[in-house]
Amino acid sequence: MTAVDVQRLTPAVADHTRDPFRAPTVEVLAPPQPGDLLDTRTAHGLFEQIGCATAEGLYTYQLPLSQRASARTAVLDQPVTMFSSYGYLGLNGHPRVDAAAQAAVARYGTTPGGVRLLTGTLQLHQELETELARFLGTGSASTYASGYDANLAAIASLFGPRDHVLLDQYAHRSLADAAVLSGARTERFRHNDLARLEARLADLTSEGPARILVVVDGVYSMEGDLAPLPELVALKQRYGAFLLLDESHAFGAIGATGRGTCEATGVDPRDVDLITGSLAKAVPSSGGFVAGSAALQVFLQHGSAPYVFSGALSPANSAAILETLRVVDDEPGHLRRLHENTGRLVRLLTDLGLDLPPGSGSSPVVPLLLGDSRRTQQWAAWLLEFGIATSAVLHPAVPHGRGRLRLCATAAHTEADFALLEAGLRACLAREALA
Ligand SMILES: Cc1ncc(COP(=O)(O)O)c(C=O)c1O
Repeated sequence: MTAVDVQRLTPAVADHTRDPFRAPTVEVLAPPQPGDLLDTRTAHGLFEQIGCATAEGLYTYQLPLSQRASARTAVLDQPVTMFSSYGYLGLNGHPRVDAAAQAAVARYGTTPGGVRLLTGTLQLHQELETELARFLGTGSASTYASGYDANLAAIASLFGPRDHVLLDQYAHRSLADAAVLSGARTERFRHNDLARLEARLADLTSEGPARILVVVDGVYSMEGDLAPLPELVALKQRYGAFLLLDESHAFGAIGATGRGTCEATGVDPRDVDLITGSLAKAVPSSGGFVAGSAALQVFLQHGSAPYVFSGALSPANSAAILETLRVVDDEPGHLRRLHENTGRLVRLLTDLGLDLPPGSGSSPVVPLLLGDSRRTQQWAAWLLEFGIATSAVLHPAVPHGRGRLRLCATAAHTEADFALLEAGLRACLAREALA
């Protein structure tokens, strides 16, 4: 094992774990009075949870980064190694991507100046969408300001109160919100349970003609496992349903050339009706897309609310995405290192006897299951003392008793980063053994 530098928290970071709100926490978190704006069950529950964490210096959320987000960054000027970042390919700050964003600002300025349908379409958006469709192997791709918007656009513009949406239990929140917005009858099926899904499809189709949309994530953001895509395509074809695949955590990160779940599972992308995704994960930008047939793009340009009523993707972000697609193809070493480091992360956790969900290693998301919320927050705080930033994910983002550190491998992690992580995890185990 390489020698590691163990840090203690600087006073600024330690303060953040107790008093993160730029105002005294006890005052901010005073229980809402009856009739107040915040006198809701959700607010009471959240304030209690935040109060418990801050009282013990276990609040490791919203750590203010004072440098570029990457495998090695800084929180309030304290250097940290980041093990929960979305930057799977380690491309934030890649010279070609930075230069493309800067050139776009020089040419187009900082805003497209409108919504896409009216005055906000740039030549750059069109180049980007052509390139995205080529990259994905689909007939078209339409871009949005975020992946959240893209999911709203895809589902709410195409489905309505007479339709059914069947969502995997762990499908992302934006997909569930989109289903609510559409007004369709919405149900969840047990995670990756093809038998239950098939039973529901059979029931619904026997009741008469219905438009049914099956909604899954390619890579599940909190589990790290993959959707069984070939089987889902076969089911949707058998029952005449439609399939939406959210590729947010798969795009650029899995498959031999980073094309995502279709490539990783040998599915023709044209057999999936709607492919959506965020451009803020492996791609160091922000934005989202909906890909599908050529006609789908024309429909979304005129019929999807986020395209017609919300500002277009910024020039800098558009250019960063476009250049990233080229970098992924020109420099396959990033993806290769990501896949190597994913294997390394899984081996490290397994060798330490830690608990991972089945299927870990098929994507860069490798959750370390810790169980109850306090234990999860405690490990995140101990790791932070080692200079390691991680995300403690608790209920309601995951089921009760399934708290976890959402660890992620990236292409930018080095041997020294893994040595530090190993030392930090061993220290967590030792501190628990003493308690
Ligand atoms: C599966 C999934 N879909 C959609 C989104 C939303 O993407 P964005 O952050 O670009 O709005 C996320 C974000 O975390 C996600 O994990």
